[in-house]
Amino acid sequence: MKFIRMAFPIVAVVVLLSSFSHQSALTERELAGKKLFRKCAVCHRTDDKPKKGPGLKGATQRMPGGDWRYRFVRNASEVIASGDAYATRLFVEYKRETMTAFPKLTNDEIDMIFEYIDAVNR
Ligand code: HEC
Repeated sequence: MKFIRMAFPIVAVVVLLSSFSHQSALTERELAGKKLFRKCAVCHRTDDKPKKGPGLKGATQRMPGGDWRYRFVRNASEVIASGDAYATRLFVEYKRETMTAFPKLTNDEIDMIFEYIDAVNR
């Protein structure tokens, strides 16, 4: 009886911990985003540490809204050349390093990349 009383909290903790680790497993979309992120990883990290470009943690919260993220990822230079203030500030801050254009990425694929970045930071 004493053994059972001692074992119960241990079992409860193990069950609780395994349910937490289950929560952090990536969904299918996030996994697809992880694969696509390989194109970005030369210049970006998923945390907040800069590489050639900014660390992308929290990018979904700070970027301008609407279709900005799609236009920027497909052709950052074009967005900068249009006089966009947010893009120009980053361009100057990151020593005028030009981000590769990804004209073939669809909105959905770009969404999956950001879903992956948000998933590893949640
Ligand atoms: C050759 C390096 C390079 C690659 C590859 C690259 N980027 Fe970038 N990225 C940059 C730089 C540098 C900036 C800063 C703005 C600028 O200089 O154009 C930037 C800025 C960004 C921003 C704005 C971040 C913020 O803080 O608001 C986003 C979002 C972004 N990149 C997403 C991506 C995604 C998604 C990919 C992959 C599909 C990618 N980048 C690939 C270099 C790169």
